[in-house]
Amino acid sequence: MKPRIIRDGVYALGAIDWDRRLFDSLIPLPDGTSYNAYLIHGSEKTALLDTVDPSKMDVLMSQLEDVPEVDYVVSHHAEQDHSGTIPAILEKYGRAKVVSTARARGMLVDLLAIPEERIIPIEDRETLSLGDKTLEFINTPWVHWPETMVSYLREDRILFSCDFFGSHLATTELYASESRILEPAKRYYAEIMMPFRKVIQKNLEKIAAYELDIIAPSHGPLYDRPAFIIDAYRDWVSSPPRNIAVVAYVSMHGSTARMVNHLVGALTERGVAVEQFELATADIGKLAVALVDAATIVLGTPTVLGGPHPNVVYAAYLANALKPKVRFVSVIGSYGWGGKTIEQLTGTMAGLEAEVLDPVLCKGLPRQSDFEAIDNLAASIASKHRAQGIP
Ligand code: FEO
Repeated sequence: MKPRIIRDGVYALGAIDWDRRLFDSLIPLPDGTSYNAYLIHGSEKTALLDTVDPSKMDVLMSQLEDVPEVDYVVSHHAEQDHSGTIPAILEKYGRAKVVSTARARGMLVDLLAIPEERIIPIEDRETLSLGDKTLEFINTPWVHWPETMVSYLREDRILFSCDFFGSHLATTELYASESRILEPAKRYYAEIMMPFRKVIQKNLEKIAAYELDIIAPSHGPLYDRPAFIIDAYRDWVSSPPRNIAVVAYVSMHGSTARMVNHLVGALTERGVAVEQFELATADIGKLAVALVDAATIVLGTPTVLGGPHPNVVYAAYLANALKPKVRFVSVIGSYGWGGKTIEQLTGTMAGLEAEVLDPVLCKGLPRQSDFEAIDNLAASIASKHRAQGIP
C-alpha cells in the first residue's frame, strides 16, 4: 500500500498484517492487525513516527523509496512491532536521529542495539520544530510499557498515540467506522491496557487538555472523532462494574458442567447477566473483553491431580494479571477424592482484592444439596451487586 495523505505534509505509512493470528505468542488476533507509521514533512525537517514489525520491513522501506531524507525517527514505544525496523531506517538515513523518552532510549539500546549517540532523549512536553510543523511530546507511561509517550502535531491537531487507543484490526479503511471498531478496540484495551487502568486514567486527563481533530494510533484505523474512543476509554477505565457475572469453566465428565448450567440459570432468574466460557475452547480475548465490565467471576473446575484443571488455573492467572474491576469471585466444581482446588484458585486471584463468596465443591455428581448451595451463591451474587449499587 502506498502512503496515504492525512493532512498536507502528513502521511499514513505502515503495513496491514491480515494473516497474523497471534501476538506475543499469547494474544489471539481474530481480525489480524496493522503496524502504522506516519511521515511528517515540515518546511525544514522530515520526521518518521514509529516503524513497523520487522516481518513487514519491506513494506515500509518501499513506501520510503521516494523520500530522500528523514531527519528524525520518533519512537513512542520500544516494543519491536513499532521499533523493530528502526535499525534499517537508521542505516538508510545515515544522518537521522531517534527521538524518544530517556527510558525508551535505554530500552532501544538493549532491545535493538541502536547506538546510544543516535538517540535524542526528550522531556515531557518538549517540542521539536520541523519548520512549519511542531511536534510536542507528552509522556504517557504504562500504555503499556513504562517508557511510552505520545506526540501532538500542533498545527494539525493530530495525536499520534502508538499503542494507546489502538486496535488489532486489519482493514484498508483509514478512519474507523465507529460501529465496527468498538469491539476490536475494547478487546485491545482488555488484553493490553486494562492492567494499567489507574495510570491510564491520569493519561486520559493529561491529553484532555489538547484540542484534537484526529487520533492516529499505531495499530488499527485512525479516529476522526477522537471523543468516541476517549469516551469509550473513560467508561472502561472508570465506570463501576456492571451487573454481570463471568462464569468460566472446564468439565471433564459432566459434573462441573451441570453445576455451571444450574448456576447460570439461577443467576439469570435473579437478574444477573451471565457471560459463560468453556475454557478448553474459549477465545481468551473474548474472556478478557467480558472481564472489562463484569462485577463477579465464578470459576468452575473439576479436580485434577489434587488441584484445579490447568485451563482454569490459566484463567485465574489471566484474570489476576489483567486486574479488571471485579468485586466478587467464587469457585464451583467437583472432586473425586480431595485436593486444594479452592485455595489454589482464590490464591491465584488474590491480586484482584475481590471478596470471595462461598464456593460450592461437591463429591462426584452434584446432588440436591449442592444445587441448593449454588442457588444460595447466585442469591448472594445478586444481593451483593444490588447492595453495591452495581447497575
Ligand atoms: Fe504495539 Fe506494545 O506494541
